[in-house]
Amino acid sequence: MRLTRTARPPHPRRSALSVPAINTRALSKASGLDADVLIFDLEDSVAEEKKAEARDNLKRFFETSGSLLKGAERVIRVNAADSSHFHRDLELAIALKPDAVLLPKVENPRDILETADRLSEQDDLDAIRIWAMIETPKAVLNAGLIAEAAHTPGARLEAFVIGLNDLRKETGVLPESGRTHLIPWMMQILLAGRAYGVDVLDSVSNDFSDLDAFSAECAQGRAMGFDGKMLIHPAQIGPANRVFGPSEQALEDARQIVSAFADPAADGLGVISIQGRMVERLHLEEAHHLLAYQDLIEKRKPQ
Ligand code: COA
Ligand code: MG
Repeated sequence: MRLTRTARPPHPRRSALSVPAINTRALSKASGLDADVLIFDLEDSVAEEKKAEARDNLKRFFETSGSLLKGAERVIRVNAADSSHFHRDLELAIALKPDAVLLPKVENPRDILETADRLSEQDDLDAIRIWAMIETPKAVLNAGLIAEAAHTPGARLEAFVIGLNDLRKETGVLPESGRTHLIPWMMQILLAGRAYGVDVLDSVSNDFSDLDAFSAECAQGRAMGFDGKMLIHPAQIGPANRVFGPSEQALEDARQIVSAFADPAADGLGVISIQGRMVERLHLEEAHHLLAYQDLIEKRKPQ
């Protein structure tokens, strides 16, 4: 059972690009992109009357190019459980075997557990994980209970993605820069994820032309503790990877901590001092975690 960030193998999720399944040109570009995660979208980016066509596109794409995507995690965002498309979307996802399905409009643990049950009928290896959009007032209020569902055997829940466009629409919070009035809810979701070992990704940012503003928003999300960010445009991948990835300085500090504890002088010591700073064994654990995370980033290349 994954309980803490350091106890589990890290999974780079710095950049999670949404690729509309209706857009065959976008699909054809996906395998060459340096995103940690590709979210193939059947929901908001696909018009009601185009849902079947989007499913056909996605099926064809996985059959012809799926093997080219080995470097990135593959996630399929289905339509909401109460929509008429959900059943067919989920059937398709089960057939295509992505790494995860992303459920929109999740509001309580039952939404996760019912989908997990459906998946278990055909995916007995638990290969397909569940990610959840947290994008409604009820979802924010219930974030802790939803995250706790991750500890129910067979729940498959692995990540939350914050959806601020929907949350703003439902609450009336204006889209101001700095996201001041949204921060309490975002931190609440982060805390819920951390309490139960569920990764949390920051929301999309709609303006893909101002990359300086985008980088600043990534830095804000990074400072708030998010694992990465959902993206809408390939131009956002580079800044997200850079900001959410470990900095050179952080890697250097981690190497220094590992080597200081490896020194026989540190044998039996729980606390040592490095350049005037107290360093504990929990920092050593974090350092190992960061270096392992960096190894995974380096291994993950577009194929
Ligand atoms: N995934 C893959 N490729 C993408 C892409 C995406 N999300 N967004 C754009 N591209 C490609 C375009 O196809 C284009 O390729 P080309 O030069 O080979 O034709 C290139 O990147 C440049 O695109 P650009 O012209 O700058 O953008 P656009 O006007 O074509 O598209 C959007 C802008 C916002 C409509 C488009 O980026 C998009 O649909 N994004 C995803 C939206 C989404 O998933 N929303 C739901 C989640 S909130
Ligand atoms: Mg939405």
